[in-house]
Amino acid sequence: MLEQGESIESTIYKKQVIAVTMATSRQGVGVVRELSKTNKYIIRAVTRNIKSAKAQDLEGLNNVELIKGDLLDSESLRRAFDGVDIIFGNTTPTKGWKPFRGSIVRSYELEQGFNLINQVKYAHQKGNLKHFIFSSISKAKDPLKNDPAPGHFTSKWDIEEYIEKKDLKKITTVLRPVSYFENFENKLPGFTISKEIFPGIVGKNFKWQTIAVDDIGKWVRGVLSKPEKYKNQSINIAGEELTGIEMALTLESLISLEGFKTNYVMIPRLAIKLLEYDIGVMADWIERSGYGADMKKLKAIQKELNIVPTSLKEWLDARLEKGNNTKSNWLRQWKDSQWKLQWDK
Ligand SMILES: NC(=O)c1ccc[n+]([C@@H]2O[C@H](COP(=O)([O-])OP(=O)(O)OC[C@H]3O[C@@H](n4cnc5c(N)ncnc54)[C@H](OP(=O)(O)O)[C@@H]3O)[C@@H](O)[C@H]2O)c1
Repeated sequence: MLEQGESIESTIYKKQVIAVTMATSRQGVGVVRELSKTNKYIIRAVTRNIKSAKAQDLEGLNNVELIKGDLLDSESLRRAFDGVDIIFGNTTPTKGWKPFRGSIVRSYELEQGFNLINQVKYAHQKGNLKHFIFSSISKAKDPLKNDPAPGHFTSKWDIEEYIEKKDLKKITTVLRPVSYFENFENKLPGFTISKEIFPGIVGKNFKWQTIAVDDIGKWVRGVLSKPEKYKNQSINIAGEELTGIEMALTLESLISLEGFKTNYVMIPRLAIKLLEYDIGVMADWIERSGYGADMKKLKAIQKELNIVPTSLKEWLDARLEKGNNTKSNWLRQWKDSQWKLQWDK
C-alpha cells in the first residue's frame, strides 16, 4: 500500500540501503564504486576514519554516505547496520608488521569476524536485513582439516562456520576470491614488476587462479541482481587461470615493440617465509591444493549475472603509460627509484 505522498515509481524504485564494511580497502573501494554506478542503492561506506583521503574520495561518489565503524567495536557496527537491507562484510588479518611475527594475525581477524557476524545476526533479528554477502577466500574443493593451511585462510573458514552456527546461511552469499592481480605490484627489491620481470609466489608452470580486485565489486552487483538464487550459496571467484610463464608472456606481448623479454621470476619461498610466514604457507598450500575455482562453471554464472571479468591483459594494459605505449608505469617507477637502479642493467 502506498503511504501518503508516495508515488508508484518511488515505491518500485526505492533504493535499498547497503552497508559496506572496510569500505576504504581495495575490495571495499571496488564494491562501493561498482554499486554507486548502478544508482540502485544508498551505500553506507563503513570506515574507522571518515576524514581519510580514501574515505573522502568515496564520499564524492553518487549515493555514498560515510559512517564510522570499527570491526573491533560492536557498538559502532550496530549503529552502522541500523536499518540496512544488505551488508557486504569483509575482515582483515593484517595488523602491522613485527619481526618474527609478520603482519598477519589470525586472532585479530577472528575477533573482527565474530563481531561482524553477531551484528549481522542482530540486524537480521530486528527484521530489516535481507541479504548478507561475506567476502571470504577461495577454498580448494576439500581442504583437509589437518592439512597445514595459512592462518588467514582458516580464520575465514572459521567465520564461514560461525555464519552457519548463527543460522544465517539462508540469507548469506559467500564470495571467495582467489589471489588479486594487485599482488603483482609488490615492492620487494628485485621482484617488482617491470618490463623484464613478472613476479610471482608459485612455480612458473603452475596454473595460478587470479582476479582483479575490482571484479569483486562486479560479483557483488551480480549476486544482488538475483538475491534469492544466490542466497545460501558459496562461490570461489576467479578471473584468470594462467601459469607464471603465460602471465609473463602476456606482459611481454604488450611491450613487445620494445623488443624486451619478460621473465617470470618466482620469489624464493624461504624469503617469503622469513618476511611473512603465513604468505609462504599460503604459497605452499596453493601449489598443493589449488584454489578450486571452477572456471567453466564461473563462465556460465558470469553470463547470467552480467559480469565481464577483467583479463590480465586488460589489467596490465590499463597500467601502461598512454600516449607512449612503449613504456610502463612500473618501468618509470623502477628508474625513478634508487634501489631499483641496481637492477637496471
Ligand atoms: N591479497 C589478496 O590476493 C587477497 C585475495 C583474496 C582475499 N583477500 C582478503 O582480503 C582481505 C583484505 O582486503 P583488502 O586487500 O581489500 O584490504 P586492504 O586494502 O589491505 O585494506 C584494509 C582495510 O581494512 C580497514 N581496517 C583495518 N582494520 C580494521 C578494523 N579493525 N575495522 C574496520 N576496518 C579495518 C582499513 O580501513 P580504515 O582504516 O579506513 O578503517 C583498511 O582500508 C583480507 O582478509 C585478505 O585475506 C586478499
